[in-house]
Amino acid sequence: MTKVILCGALGRMGRAILKSSLEYADVEVVAGVEHPDCVRDQDLGKAVGMEELAGKVLTSRLEEVLPLGDVVVDFTGNTLSALAHAKLSAYAKKAVVVGTTGFPQEQVEELKELSQLSPILLSPNMSLGVNLLFKLAEIAVKALKDKNFDVEILEIHHRFKKDAPSGTALKLLEVSAKAMGKEPSQVGKFGREGIEPREEEIGVMSLRGGDVVGEHTLYLIGFGERIELTHRATSRSIFAKGALEACRWIKGKPPGFYSMFDVLGI
Ligand SMILES: NC(=O)c1ccc[n+]([C@@H]2O[C@H](COP(=O)([O-])OP(=O)(O)OC[C@H]3O[C@@H](n4cnc5c(N)ncnc54)[C@H](O)[C@@H]3O)[C@@H](O)[C@H]2O)c1
Repeated sequence: MTKVILCGALGRMGRAILKSSLEYADVEVVAGVEHPDCVRDQDLGKAVGMEELAGKVLTSRLEEVLPLGDVVVDFTGNTLSALAHAKLSAYAKKAVVVGTTGFPQEQVEELKELSQLSPILLSPNMSLGVNLLFKLAEIAVKALKDKNFDVEILEIHHRFKKDAPSGTALKLLEVSAKAMGKEPSQVGKFGREGIEPREEEIGVMSLRGGDVVGEHTLYLIGFGERIELTHRATSRSIFAKGALEACRWIKGKPPGFYSMFDVLGI
């Protein structure tokens, strides 16, 4: 059994992880950690309205519940609190899975330092499918580099998404650019308009509408043939499931800095 302590337990991702965890026979969320302003009830089950979790502790102090778990997961959405949680956990020799996004490079370096003490996995996208897509993109672009294929990326999201292109599309651009031996800034082309003949570039296009959870396609367009690698997300639970897979995988691993590629073994 992998025992998980969940930081950010009452947030959107926290609740999704709690719900998905009930589907796993060998992963158990043993305690939740929340911001002090949000801890009104110290019973996690009551706080989230899930009877199955009755009796589990909800606290604002990770150190109080650290001895209960094997893996500490952070989805607090605040890189400084995620870093503080990783520090406490690493010194207590607990494994850490960080899903919080937006870490500046110097904080990533701090996480890497801490990963010398205990295993730490950082992934801004925990979907197993999306991570496999990154790997497939790398293989495909490398294989067809210098073979007269053009690479383009298309992403579609719901009408409420504020940022464009999506972080996943940017990561696809990065992976593809590197596979071509380029930097993303050298080849990324965000939208086209007017007279713009194609150069050595990777077009990145964004569509917005309705309730689309998230779609990403990497096109490799040649002469007489075309490859399309598509990932379609139909539920946000893919991130929660990926996080729980990461917990299951990281338990018992030696200290080190890991990603979802390690979980997938690719
Ligand atoms: N890695 C992935 O696959 C993935 C997927 C979706 C979202 N995210 C990221 O996960 C993070 C959380 O997203 P969300 O939509 O759940 O946000 P949210 O705001 O709904 O939830 C964050 C929760 O963390 C709590 N929190 C804040 N500071 C805390 C602290 N110091 N200690 C304990 N709890 C604290 C908040 O009270 C809140 O309940 C964001 O960074 C988001 O970008 C990652």
